[in-house]
Amino acid sequence: MKEETHCKEGPALETLLVHGATPFEPVTGSITTPIYQSSTFRHPGLYESTGYDYSRTINPTRSELERTVALIEGGKYGLAFASGMGAISSLIKLFKSGDHLVVSEDLYGGTYRLFNEYYGRYGFSFSWVDTSDIRLVEASLRPETRALFIETPSNPMMKVSDIRRCAELIHRRGGLLIVDNTFLSPYLQNPLKLGADLVIHSGTKYLAGHNDTLAGFIVHSDESLAETLRLAQRSEGATLAPFDAWLVLRGIKTLALRMARHEENARRVARWLREHPRVEKVFYPGFEDHPQYALSCSQARGHGGMISFYLKHKEDVAVLLRKVSLILFAESLGGVESLITYPLVQTHGAIPEAMRLSAGVNDRLMRLSVGIEAAEDIIADLDAVFHDCI
Ligand SMILES: Cc1ncc(COP(=O)(O)O)c(C=O)c1O
Repeated sequence: MKEETHCKEGPALETLLVHGATPFEPVTGSITTPIYQSSTFRHPGLYESTGYDYSRTINPTRSELERTVALIEGGKYGLAFASGMGAISSLIKLFKSGDHLVVSEDLYGGTYRLFNEYYGRYGFSFSWVDTSDIRLVEASLRPETRALFIETPSNPMMKVSDIRRCAELIHRRGGLLIVDNTFLSPYLQNPLKLGADLVIHSGTKYLAGHNDTLAGFIVHSDESLAETLRLAQRSEGATLAPFDAWLVLRGIKTLALRMARHEENARRVARWLREHPRVEKVFYPGFEDHPQYALSCSQARGHGGMISFYLKHKEDVAVLLRKVSLILFAESLGGVESLITYPLVQTHGAIPEAMRLSAGVNDRLMRLSVGIEAAEDIIADLDAVFHDCI
């Protein structure tokens, strides 16, 4: 894409994505990282180790992926988990009972459920805030606030929060800024470089990219957090299996090409949807009249492949979900296939109605993860369905 994707020193991001942290396996010369499908590792003798002991703790395939994700996200430490939720749950181990976290109100419903229904029971408290409005963020901070957890762009309303200003605000209080960077991927946005302390990924999405595995990541550069996070990872055991780690390593090699195509298609589909008489409103940060378009341009290298939109008529929802044929009605995002989701009952089903509605998730909201098929075929699929709605 653009110049910013090129590091000042060393290879460009596109090159790092292809070659990863270790471009070939040094013993055999294997170009791809071997899948070390072993639960345990033999020790040469007492108090001697190859550096590997047991795969829950450390596995060579997973370690290569962890180094690669840290490298492409601009961090020092990467930790790989069995899913995005596994990563977020381990991250919470940085905090303790009594701590308060300010969280984007418009975020993945599974994160809401984990925080509110699970960690809420263990003495953590959370405030759900529209973090695209920095004044609301500031007003929600309390003496016991230890972190700000944001998704930007948000899920599913595509609001953009100011990473730099959020970092300044929470750092003044000695807290941490955590950014879920799933929607844009490290190819389009690197929150650590903008002042965030920790980055989360559902690696299930763009990083793996093929709707074929679950994965999750934490990336950071803070030595003082490294030990606690490693301990949480290996003690809780939600670590990524070697084959899944290999799938994500393979996915990352084509991240640059895929993201460019996702975005190109998303722009075309978003523009088409916007003109369609059965569509009330389209949410896409790549529109110049999106309220945070300038902010999005200032902190990301692109606007991504996710779109959400309100249909004009609630009755069209069921028709759309039943009749799409190329676009698949399924709950996920970021893979090569276009997927359509109904947040009300799927991704955001766990969120209480009042909060959902205040965030904008109503019964006419659709979320589209635009794949890398030909854009005209995606549009033709939607067009055919809208004809049936009449
Ligand atoms: C933005 C975001 N973060 C985190 C998650 C959780 O990731 P996983 O499904 O890999 O556990 C999701 C899942 O959809 C997501 O969309």
